[in-house]
Amino acid sequence: MILSIESSCDDSSLALTKIDTRELLFHKKISQELAHSTYGGVVPELAARLHAAALPKILEETAPYLKEIQAIAVTNEPGLSVSLLEGVMMAKALSIALAVPIVPINHLKGHIYSLFIEQEEKLPMGVLLVSGGHTQILDAKSYDDIKILASTLDDSFGESFDKTAKMLRLGYPGGNIIEEYAKLGQKRFNFTIPMQKSKNIAFSYSGLKNQVRVAVQKLGESISQQDMYDIAASFQDAAINHILKQCEKIFKQNAFKEFAIVGGASANQMLREKMGDLCEKFGTKLYLPPLEFCSDNAAMIGRAGIEAYGLKRFVLPHEIKINPKTSQALLQGKMSF
Ligand code: KG4
Ligand code: ZN
Repeated sequence: MILSIESSCDDSSLALTKIDTRELLFHKKISQELAHSTYGGVVPELAARLHAAALPKILEETAPYLKEIQAIAVTNEPGLSVSLLEGVMMAKALSIALAVPIVPINHLKGHIYSLFIEQEEKLPMGVLLVSGGHTQILDAKSYDDIKILASTLDDSFGESFDKTAKMLRLGYPGGNIIEEYAKLGQKRFNFTIPMQKSKNIAFSYSGLKNQVRVAVQKLGESISQQDMYDIAASFQDAAINHILKQCEKIFKQNAFKEFAIVGGASANQMLREKMGDLCEKFGTKLYLPPLEFCSDNAAMIGRAGIEAYGLKRFVLPHEIKINPKTSQALLQGKMSF
C-alpha cells in the first residue's frame, strides 16, 4: 500500500491506499481553518507549526500498517513552502526508516485524481480546477499529459470568496459561508462579470473583488445583515457567470465528451448546477468529486500516487525538491505539467 501525505496549505492529512485495488484503507485530515479564521487567511508560520503537531499525531494511527507500506506519496508542489516542507520532511524520515521510495506528487494532479478515488482512471477529459490558489481549465489527457487551456490573470475563484468573506468580517475560509449567505440574498448589487468584452479565454477576479470592496466601503458601519446577504448573492452570481462564460468559449472550440470540476471550490452547489446545465447543452458528461474529497486531502494524493508508483516515479530522500510556486510559464499556459 501507499502512505500519502498532504500538507501544502492548511490541511494536515494522511491516507493509506491499496495499490492493486485502489481501496482507501485509512484517511484522516486535521483542518487548521479555525486557527487561521481570525486572521482572514492562512498565516504560513502558524500553518507550519500546526502541521508539525498534526502530522505525527495522525501517523500514530497508521502504526498497524507501517510494515505493509511500499511507497510514500507526498505533495511537493505547489503550495506554501513552509507547509510543504513539513509533509516532505515526514516523507523523508519515513522513507529512510521503512526503506521505501518517495513518489512526489503535484497537488493539482492530486485534485484531478480526486475524481478517481477507489475507481479506475477515466482520462482524457477537460477539467475546471477551482481552488484557493488556482483557477484553470485543463486538457487532461493522461497523468503525464495535462495542458493548461486557460488560467487566471490575477486572483483565483476560491480566493475571491475568501476575500469577500474577509471584507464582510465573516472569517476564513469564505467559500462555504458566502454560498450560505448568497442563499438568503438577492442580486441587488450590479457587479459586472469580469472580461465580458475580451476575446481571450482567461479568468480575472481582482476587478470583481474591487467592486465588492467599493460596495462594502460605501455602506460603511451602517451595513445590515440583508446588505451582506445581497452582496454575497450578487458577488457569487458574477463570479460563477464568469466561469460559465469562459467555459462556454472553450466548449465551442473543444467539444469535450467528458468534463470535470475539481478543487476546494468544486463543492459550490450553484457552480455544480450551472456547469451541469452548460455541459448538458453541449452534450458533455460532467464528473464531480464526492464533497468530502473536494478540499485538500491525502486520499487524492494517494490515488495520484498509485499512477506515479506504476510509472516508477521514485526519488530518494535527498533528491526530493519542493516547488512552492507553479512557474510563471505554467501559470501563463505556456507549459503543461
Ligand atoms: O483545494 P482547496 O481546499 O485548497 C487549495 O488548494 O487552495 O480550496 C480551498 C478554496 C478556498 O478558497 C475556499 O474558500 C474555496 O476553496 N471553497 C469554496 C467553497 N468551498 C470551498 N468556494 C466557493 N464555494 C464553496 N462552497
Ligand atoms: Zn487544493
